[in-house]
Amino acid sequence: MAKRHSDQLGNLESLFLRLEELVLANSGEDEFEEIFKLLIAKLWDERSGQPPRFRLWDSDSKTFAQVSGLLHEANKAWPEVLIAIEPALTPEHLAVCVGVLARHRISDNDLEVLDGFFEFLVSKSAKGAKGQYFTPRHVVELCVRMLRPTLDDTILDPACGSSGFLIHALNYVRRNGELRTHAELRKFCESKIWGFDLDARALRVGRALMVLAGDGNANLIRLNSLLKPDAVGMFGSADGESSLTIEDVCRTRLRRHRGFDVILTNPPFAGEVREKHLLESYDLGKGQGRIERDVLFLERCVQLLRPRGRMAIVLPHNKYAANAFADERTWLFEKTRVLGVVGLGRNTFLPHTHQKASILFVQKLENALLAKDDYDIFFAISERDGKNSKGQPTMRTDGSEAEAWDRIDHDFDQIVGAFHEFCGKNGIMFGE
Ligand SMILES: C[S@@+](CC[C@H](N)C(=O)[O-])C[C@H]1O[C@@H](n2cnc3c(N)ncnc32)[C@H](O)[C@@H]1O
Repeated sequence: MAKRHSDQLGNLESLFLRLEELVLANSGEDEFEEIFKLLIAKLWDERSGQPPRFRLWDSDSKTFAQVSGLLHEANKAWPEVLIAIEPALTPEHLAVCVGVLARHRISDNDLEVLDGFFEFLVSKSAKGAKGQYFTPRHVVELCVRMLRPTLDDTILDPACGSSGFLIHALNYVRRNGELRTHAELRKFCESKIWGFDLDARALRVGRALMVLAGDGNANLIRLNSLLKPDAVGMFGSADGESSLTIEDVCRTRLRRHRGFDVILTNPPFAGEVREKHLLESYDLGKGQGRIERDVLFLERCVQLLRPRGRMAIVLPHNKYAANAFADERTWLFEKTRVLGVVGLGRNTFLPHTHQKASILFVQKLENALLAKDDYDIFFAISERDGKNSKGQPTMRTDGSEAEAWDRIDHDFDQIVGAFHEFCGKNGIMFGE
């Protein structure tokens, strides 16, 4: 790993581990929430440009009051990042943590480093079992580079979690020089970036990372993306579940919305849907007693695309190969032009899941009747997936100092190049 980066990562990792030990020590509080609050207060302080207030004051109660003040200010500027604003730690305990964190500047570190820490923190609390791991960032970047989002595209991730796809899409548009001023950045985030997720904690991490990426005003909303208006209308929503749908949000916030231009997503691999009101509202669910959740996500995403809109979706390998999913594949060929499939290595999603996955790239057909019987599809299999058998990133040996994409030992660059060449030869155009 590049020296500068490994130093940053090493320092910050040990800082975070120390913080975790300190917060946990005798506090009995939710470690995620308390560390999250400390980081938000620290980031707000660093961003304020004022003399530091996140430091030890002459008494623990004064230190507590300063941190509390920072959190209230952050909460006003970055709504919905925090749930409880006041630290739950005692003033004495909080002061010990502040003493450790105050010596470091966390805004100077790559977003990537904080992203990694949030993943570590979230993974300790809930996810794995519920399919709530972060998508490896080099896989996210591969999807973005394949689909080349532009300033004009309205971009969606309906299972956005920590917003990895949305942040990388935003950075891609930015890198191409299309967002020059802060006002342009803000306008783009407010109108073009859309993420939905069921999990409140992952969404809050997503909002915090969005703030760090440059703008906290993307649309990151908690709802069940699989819920369709017809399912709510016919059957009402299940007990206690919000009946807000993506359509409700689009109707009120997006004018003349005909669907999303780009969808980038990694739905959860685990789990089945058995709720009748949901199953009956899907072509692929009708008449079934249960169905795998990612199948419904696939149909939902195709439905949410505008005609000619494009999508990258990470799906487990059985969806591409198993006889049991032949009907789903037929359905897909009727609704979309399948552009390509990229097979990922077995280690890619370790340590969270051993399941082998591939990325499907499609473009929604203008009209289902236009489906052609025969056309070429791009296929690639990654032979270097950038992870070892323990799920740790494998690094290139050339000492490059650049971003994770350039440091991690993968073969995705060749795949992106070959895909764009394929698209050129086949008259498939987007992102120009
Ligand atoms: C594999 S994770 C996606 C991770 C995300 N790409 C990231 O990098 O953080 C799948 C996400 O789907 C969310 N999810 C599961 N069922 C959902 C539903 N019905 N509606 C919305 N989100 C859902 C989970 O909460 C989880 O955050």
